[in-house]
Amino acid sequence: MSTQLETSRRAFTTSQAIEMKKKGEKIAVLTAYDFTIARLLDLAGVDIILVGDSASNVFAGNETTLPMTLDEMIYHVRAVVKGVHAATGRAMIVADMPFMTYQLSPEDALKNAGRLMKETGCHAVKLEGGKVVADAVKRITDAGIPVMAHLGLTPQSIYKFGSYKVRAKDEREAEELLRDAKLLEECGAFAVVLEKIPTALAEKVTQSLGVPTIGIGAGSACDGQVLVINDMLGLNNAFRPRFVRRYANLEQIISDAVRRYVADVKSRDFPNESESY
Ligand code: KIV
Repeated sequence: MSTQLETSRRAFTTSQAIEMKKKGEKIAVLTAYDFTIARLLDLAGVDIILVGDSASNVFAGNETTLPMTLDEMIYHVRAVVKGVHAATGRAMIVADMPFMTYQLSPEDALKNAGRLMKETGCHAVKLEGGKVVADAVKRITDAGIPVMAHLGLTPQSIYKFGSYKVRAKDEREAEELLRDAKLLEECGAFAVVLEKIPTALAEKVTQSLGVPTIGIGAGSACDGQVLVINDMLGLNNAFRPRFVRRYANLEQIISDAVRRYVADVKSRDFPNESESY
């Protein structure tokens, strides 16, 4: 009888991510929040699926990521896990830890990371911040839960930053970010997301770490790239930041399809005989 570990032999692991960095192979990461998209991403060969708290913006329509709760995140991650299992089961699933689920104490962070792992079947968690979350990262990784760190523009701190502008442009902030990245690696992080920082700094961080950097608006030197799925599929034409490459214009495609459907219903063209019983 094969064990679950044997059947998931092809699954993407943290050591594979580190190995890819060593070999200079790029890591492809995208976000997903539901079963349908997760299944498609896994089938298309995405290495890591991040169930980002960007769900708060693009799924729930909130202005920031702050309102997302742990229970809401668990709901999304469960759906994504099922989507990956319904496909090839290869993609690694990383769950974002929502605002205030890891800041109170390392114990609280471990308890909440444990809930995400136990109640969803995801493979790792992600949390935002540098030195201030180092103890939490260590506590979680010491318990055997892989952690992806996140530096640069950290959207959960939007009210501290006051804007979504590029971070770490000045020397002081750049040096702090590099120090934080090294510290998080020491504390056990298996990867570090670098969001909206200058390309040269991302390159320096990437060269200084043994674990992979995953960039979003951080240039091409990073070991991998991540985008929010809704942005790269062009689901909202009003949101077009410079760092997003749009691989489709789904806003146009969906709007056209829905308009045609509405017209067909109103004109009694739909359903026709072959579409009826
Ligand atoms: O929540 C999210 O989608 C993220 C990515 C943008 C890195 O943190």
